[in-house]
Parts: sequence; structure tokens; C-alpha cells
Amino acid sequence: MSYIEDLFSLKGKTAAIFGGCGVLGGEMAIALAGSGAKVAFFDRNKEGGRKCKEKIERAGGEATIIYADVMKKETVENACDEIRSMWGRIDILVNAAGINSATPFLEIDNDEWEEIMAVNLKGVFVACQVFGKAMIEDGNGGTIINISSVSSEIPLSKVFTYSITKSGVNNLTKYLAREWAEYGIRVNAIMPGFFPANQNRKILTEERRKSIFNHTPMNRFGEPCELAGAVVWLASDKASSFVTGAIIPVDGGFTAMTI
Ligand SMILES: NC(=O)c1ccc[n+]([C@@H]2O[C@H](COP(=O)([O-])OP(=O)(O)OC[C@H]3O[C@@H](n4cnc5c(N)ncnc54)[C@H](O)[C@@H]3O)[C@@H](O)[C@H]2O)c1
Repeated sequence: MSYIEDLFSLKGKTAAIFGGCGVLGGEMAIALAGSGAKVAFFDRNKEGGRKCKEKIERAGGEATIIYADVMKKETVENACDEIRSMWGRIDILVNAAGINSATPFLEIDNDEWEEIMAVNLKGVFVACQVFGKAMIEDGNGGTIINISSVSSEIPLSKVFTYSITKSGVNNLTKYLAREWAEYGIRVNAIMPGFFPANQNRKILTEERRKSIFNHTPMNRFGEPCELAGAVVWLASDKASSFVTGAIIPVDGGFTAMTI
């Protein structure tokens, strides 16, 4: 094995990805499997993950798709139990389930507020609680990667509730990094810029695309495969052994932009 392969190898590791059947979750699953991890796609909509699962299997990897809804804690617990009994361990958790809405501030009703909070913030809390408990019980350490957003630092126009949830994800990430370092569990977040996907398709109008590009030094959207390096790096206990509580932007320079 070359130096680089050894540094980033995830051979013998298992990964659970909530929202794994979505655009970014699927691409991150392919990246983790490409480095040798067995990958479980956890989602409430299993359909979107089939092509990624097939791609992983064609390349000789191992993957499974398991129903889980982060709004229902018992399904998260069942999914965690299933992986541990199937593969004997859980090493990597990626929280990439997410929803969004562009409702104007004064029109956001209680149901919409609660649903976005329940998926994007409480869902991350629940998954961290269930999987963190399992990692602590198993005593093998672990790595948790939460998917935040550039809107967590600077509230974006139109997506108020979403931005609040992602600020909460950053805070939760740093809190757990401090709490769980003693168990060898590292907790980090990736802060993506703009990647066309299912949850934001309606929001990315031509007018919004122009203003995003004007505010992105690289003047384009990201490609989902451009998250691969960050996710594999944070998943690898060798490559990112001293990294915890970090929020890593992958955003074409969006958060560095000023006049
Ligand atoms: N696409 C972007 O530009 C962008 C930017 C920043 C952050 N993000 C974040 O990346 C993550 C992935 O989003 P995406 O852009 O790939 O969108 P996507 O819509 O393609 O994927 C989201 C996935 O989450 C799943 N999901 C939704 N609610 C769920 C629930 N209750 N339980 C389980 N699964 C659920 C969906 O079924 C879907 O497969 C999200 O957290 C999103 O907020 C995306």
C-alpha cells in the first residue's frame, strides 16, 4: 500500500450516511466506499440511493440501503442496531439528511418551522445521540461528520429556518467534539457552498444563480464529487487524527468573499 493509500484507507471501517440517498449524501457514500469502507445508506426515501449502491458494488465495495427517518428516533435506533449486527461495528457517521424552503419570513408557519427544525437540527441531534452511544459502548472510537452549510455563518436570504438549523449544527458539532474526545470520537462538520441538489432545486432560480456566482470567487456551483476529499479526510483516523470540532468550508470561496 502506498503512503497516500495508507493515510486515507478506510478498509475494515463501516459508515452510516443519513440522507445517503440524496445528491450529496450519495456522492459522499461513493467516496467513503472508494477508500474501502462498507457503506450504509440511511434515508426515508430509498429510491435515490439505488444507483450509488450499484456503482459501489460494481467497483467491488459493499453497501446497503436501510429505511430510517431522522424524525422518528426508533427508526434511527433500528438502523443503528441493524448495521452493528450485520457488520459488527460502526466507525463513521455522516449526517446529510436535510430539507429546505424559501418561504418569506412573515409567512413561515408553525408546521414548516417545526419540520425543518426536526429534520435538519433535531435529526442530527438524534443520530449523534444514538450512534455516539453505540460508538462509546463499542469502545473503538469513531468519527462523526455533520453536513452544515455556508448559511450557518451568514444568514442567507430566503432560507431563514434552514440557516438557523445549520448554525445549531455547528454548535452541536463543537459541543460533541469537546464531550467525546475522551472516547476517541472526533466530531467535525463540512460546510458546503452551493451544489444543485433535490432540496434546493426550486430555490435556485436564474436570478439566484447569478447572485450566488457573483458572491463565489470561483464563479460556479460545486460538483458533488468535490466533497469527496473533505469527507474521506475527516473520516480517516490517520489523515485527520488531530482534527475535531472543525467546520470545513467547501464553497469555492463563498465565505471568504468581500468587496
Ligand atoms: N446542495 C447544497 O447546495 C447544499 C449546501 C449546503 C448544505 N447542504 C446540505 O447537504 C445535505 C444533503 O443535501 P442535498 O443537497 O444532497 O439534498 P438532497 O435533497 O439531494 O438530499 C437530502 C436527502 O435527505 C433525505 N431526507 C430528508 N428528510 C429526511 C428524514 N426525515 N429522514 C431521513 N432522510 C431524510 C432525503 O430523502 C434526501 O435523500 C443536507 O443536509 C443539506 O442541507 C446542501
